[in-house]
Amino acid sequence: MSTAISPTAYNYKVVRQFAIMTVVWGILGMGLGVFIASQLVWPQLNLDLPWTSFGRLRPLHTNLVIFAFGGCALFATSYYVVQRTCQTRLISDSMAAFTFWGWQAVIVGALITLPMGYTTTKEYAELEWPIAILLAIVWVTYALVFFGTIVKRKTKHIYVGNWFYGAFIVVTAMLHIVNHISLPVSLFKSYSAYAGATDAMIQWWYGHNAVGFFLTTGFLGMMYYFVPKQAERPIYSYRLSIVHFWALITLYIWAGPHHLHYTALPDWAQSLGMVMSIILLAPSWGGMINGMMTLSGAWHKLRTDPILRFLVVSLAFYGMSTFEGPMMAIKTVNSLSHYTDWTIGHVHAGALGWVAMISIGAVYHMIPKLYGRAQMHSVGLINAHFWLATIGTVLYIASMWVNGITQGLMWRAINDDGTLTYSFVEALQASHPGYIVRALGGAFFASGMLLMAYNVLRTVRAADATQAEEAAKIVVVGAH
Ligand code: HEM
Ligand code: HEM
Repeated sequence: MSTAISPTAYNYKVVRQFAIMTVVWGILGMGLGVFIASQLVWPQLNLDLPWTSFGRLRPLHTNLVIFAFGGCALFATSYYVVQRTCQTRLISDSMAAFTFWGWQAVIVGALITLPMGYTTTKEYAELEWPIAILLAIVWVTYALVFFGTIVKRKTKHIYVGNWFYGAFIVVTAMLHIVNHISLPVSLFKSYSAYAGATDAMIQWWYGHNAVGFFLTTGFLGMMYYFVPKQAERPIYSYRLSIVHFWALITLYIWAGPHHLHYTALPDWAQSLGMVMSIILLAPSWGGMINGMMTLSGAWHKLRTDPILRFLVVSLAFYGMSTFEGPMMAIKTVNSLSHYTDWTIGHVHAGALGWVAMISIGAVYHMIPKLYGRAQMHSVGLINAHFWLATIGTVLYIASMWVNGITQGLMWRAINDDGTLTYSFVEALQASHPGYIVRALGGAFFASGMLLMAYNVLRTVRAADATQAEEAAKIVVVGAH
C-alpha cells in the first residue's frame, strides 16, 4: 500500500458553507423554540400580533430546526462523507453551489411566508407551492450530485454510510413530491389533490417517513461515519449494518398510520401501523447497538473527548426514543398519550437528544478538518456545551412526560355520574410548572449553541488560507 497526495482536492467550500449555516440556523430555530415555549408560559409574549402568534411561529420553529438546521447538517456531512469515502471530488461544483443557495432560498421563503400565515396546513409540509417546487428542484439536484459522485468513486465498494444517505435522499424526494401534489388557486394558496381520510393517510405517510428518513436514516448515515472516525475504531459489525439498513428501510414506510389511531382511517390500517411500529424496535436497536459497540476498547476516550460524548449520548437518546415510539404506537397507550405533551417530549427526545446532538458532534469533528486545524479552538467549551445540551434535553423531556401523563389522566377522569372530573383549564393549570421547566431546558440547550458559535468562529478565524487548502487535498490510500 502506498500513500500519495492527489493533485485534485475535495470540494470543501460547500461543506464549510453548510456546516456554518447549521450553527446559524440551529441558533435561530432553537431560539425560536425557546420563544414559543415561553409563550406557553406567558401568553402575553404572543404580543397580540398575528405574525408573532404561537400558531404561526410554531411551524416556523419546526421548519427551521428540521429543514434549516437538520437539513444543513445533512447536506454538510453527506457531501463530506461521500467525497472522503469515495476518494473523489463532488461531481459538479456549480450544482453543489446551487444546492447551497437554493436551500437557503427555501429557508428564507419559510421565514417570510410562515409568519405571514401562508400555509398548506399540512404539518412539516406547510410551505406553499412555489417554495415547494423550488425545494423539489434543489433536492433533485442534490440527488444528482450525491449519486453522480458515487458513480465516479475511486474506491471499489460503497461505504454503508452512503447507503443510508442515499436512501434518505431518494425517499425524501418521493415523499415531498407525492404529498405536495395540489391545485394552486393563487400565488400562495393551493388545495391538496387528496381528500378526507386519504389526505390524512398520505399526510402521515409523509409525516412519519419524514421522521424515518429525514430525521433518522440521514442521521444514521452520519453515525456510521463519524462514530468510528471519532472513536478511531472500525464499525462494530459491518454485517449488522447491512441488515440494519435493509430492515429499517423496509419497515419504516408502513408505520405511518400510528399517527391516526382512533380516526376515520380503516381499523386494519391502524393495526398494521401499530404492528409495524413495534417490529421497528428491532432494526432501530440493532443500529444503536452497532454504534455503541464500536466503542468497545475505546470507552476510556469518553473521559477526555467531549465530541465522542456528544455522539454516544445521541445514540443513547436514539435508543430511548425508538423504544418509546413503538410503545406509544400501541393503541391503548396512544389513547392516553395522543394530544398530550407526552408526544412533544417524545419528539424532542429524538430531536434534541438524537438529531441535534449527533449533528453537533459531527460539526465539531468536521470544522477543524475543513479548515486545516488540529482541533477546535477550545475543548473546554465543547465540554460545557455537552453538559448544557444534556441537561437541557433531560429537563425538556422529563417535564413533558410529567405533563403528558397528567393531562392524559385528567382528561379521562370521570365522576360516578359520567361527567368529567376536571375541566380543560384545570389540566392546563396543572401543566404550567412543566412549561416553565421545558422553557428552562430549551434555554440551556440554545445557550450551548451560542458557545458553539463562538468556538467555531475562533477556530475558523485562526485558520489561514494555505492550511485550509492543504486540508482539502485528496489523500488516496492504495496503489493506483
Ligand atoms: C432549544 C430547543 C427547542 C425548544 C425550546 C423547542 C420547543 C418547542 C415547542 C414549545 C414546541 C411546540 C409544542 C406544542 O405545540 O405544545 C415544539 C414543537 C416541535 N419541535 Fe421543538 N424545540 C427545540 C428544538 C427542536 C429541535 C432541534 C427539533 C428538531 C430537530 C425540534 C422539532 C420540533 C417538532 C418536530 C415539533 C412539533 C411536534 C409535534 O407536532 O408533535 N425542536 N418545539
Ligand atoms: C421506532 C421508532 C419510532 C416509532 C415507532 C415512533 C412512534 C411514534 C408515535 C406512536 C408517535 C405519536 C403519534 C401520535 O399519537 O400522534 C410519534 C410521534 C412523533 N415522533 Fe416518533 N417514533 C419513533 C422514533 C422517532 C424518532 C427517532 C424521532 C425523531 C427524530 C421521532 C419523531 C416524532 C415526531 C416529530 C412525532 C410527532 C408527529 C406529530 O404529531 O407532529 N420519532 N412517534
